[in-house]
Amino acid sequence: MRTEFFLLWASAQAAVAAIRPKNFIMVIPDGMAPASQTLVRTYLSMLNGGSPEAPAINAMPIDETPLGNTRTHSSNNLITDSAAAGTALACGFKTNNGALGVTPDGQALGSILEAAKQDGYLTALVVTSIINHATPAAYSSHSVSRNALPQIAEQQIGYSHPLNQSVDILLGGGRCYFKPQSDSTSCREDDIDLFAYAKDKGYSIAQNRSSFDALSSGRSRITLPYLGLFNDNDLSYEIDRQQQPQAEREPSLSEMTETALQSLDRARQCRGRHCRNRNDKGYFLMIEASRIDHSSHAHDAAAHLHDTLEYNNVMEKLINWIDAHPDTAMLSVADHETGGLTLPGYDPRLLQTPTHSIEYLSSQWDESDKSESYLRSDILPAYGLSDASDAEVQAILGDFSAGLADALSERAGISWSTGGHSGVDTTLYGYAAGRTGEQLKADMAGGFDNTEIPRYIEQALGVNIDRVTRELRAKGTGWIP
Ligand SMILES: *[C@@H]1O[C@H](CO)[C@@H](O)[C@H](O)[C@H]1NC(C)=O
Ligand SMILES: *[C@@H]1O[C@H](CO)[C@@H](O)[C@H](O)[C@H]1NC(C)=O
Ligand SMILES: [Zn+2]
Repeated sequence: MRTEFFLLWASAQAAVAAIRPKNFIMVIPDGMAPASQTLVRTYLSMLNGGSPEAPAINAMPIDETPLGNTRTHSSNNLITDSAAAGTALACGFKTNNGALGVTPDGQALGSILEAAKQDGYLTALVVTSIINHATPAAYSSHSVSRNALPQIAEQQIGYSHPLNQSVDILLGGGRCYFKPQSDSTSCREDDIDLFAYAKDKGYSIAQNRSSFDALSSGRSRITLPYLGLFNDNDLSYEIDRQQQPQAEREPSLSEMTETALQSLDRARQCRGRHCRNRNDKGYFLMIEASRIDHSSHAHDAAAHLHDTLEYNNVMEKLINWIDAHPDTAMLSVADHETGGLTLPGYDPRLLQTPTHSIEYLSSQWDESDKSESYLRSDILPAYGLSDASDAEVQAILGDFSAGLADALSERAGISWSTGGHSGVDTTLYGYAAGRTGEQLKADMAGGFDNTEIPRYIEQALGVNIDRVTRELRAKGTGWIP
């Protein structure tokens, strides 16, 4: 029995890629629960009628694409953090919570993105958090601590990375880490000006809506590489972003995805002397719906719904893109679950009225006189709680964020079991067109450890992660913050 078990386990370790796509897209909805998808699906269905007592539920596009489950534990904890999980998904190795692109004892681990770059592929990172946050950082930097944010930003654009530039497109938040301390909005404690460095190294830079629009969804003549950061911190939650004035509105994850896809597709076909891709290779693109996780830490059901909905929008766009570009394959999996989200007796219709996240309302509150009348006139309606009871109002005045979160979640029958991450398996989705799609399903149906995901992509693209690891280790460890 023991041997049989071992063989079964061993064969599960080796998901052999029988597909040979030109391009691979990896999508990570950070912290998304299996229940998050149920919530989004039933919410949208009920906007079209039906009730919890008489449900009429329509499947979402990604509901057709689950392949299996992914195990997420890290090397030193049953409950992973985003750094260890990102390292597993990017590098194919377990590490300790907090570590990025290094083993538990601080030795560098090459990533699938770096391996793709070394082999001549184009590469891109598109996220809604700061660009140097754990998940994108795991694909593009190496640090014993995820908190070394200024140093991670340096590595991501090749300022202090042994392989120099590995990322052709970076889109997300985190502007403040790229500005020298002399700038009042900087998050650095030194004079390094990473925007100036990037520009000098040939990156085009976008820092606002008008420069993003100038990229014309990737159809413009703007060449790679480019760096687009649209908030000093994380990008806004989708629910808040939609309310921003058009001229200053941050790009959505869908818009950034569209821009990256168009740019990569154009650059891939570029054959001139000025082109970055002369090897007729494709691209590796990692997209992260980063802030699903933040909404779950905050138990903000409204922000959670809209960021998970936007992840679904991106996935639908990708499925359509792949149908039109059948040389492209995609996998998507959450790095872990956050919040212990469950739906015991819920009614998603109650999430229809909020127009802002708790994060946004907290900043409004902090700038106000914090009076009960302001709470009742402005805050409560914006979070769908116009008819709040006296007990709810007192709870919110006592603890603003938790009070709002608990009131809405309780009314909607949505339950959170932790303020942190949980250990449950996450859903593995995947899509490719035609025969490649059938083969992807045959290859990846089942249960996988998170470390197996990049190994599959590695085989599919025919690149070599371990060779990058050897190259990085040849430089010692002095460069690893
Ligand atoms: C990185 O850039 C340095 C300085 O220009 C150069 O000496 C080195 O060979 C480059 N490394 C790689 C891997 O391209
Ligand atoms: C947007 O950024 C560009 C390029 O840095 C700058 O010229 C322009 O003034 C900015 N627009 C706004 C509205 O801040
Ligand atoms: Zn995470």
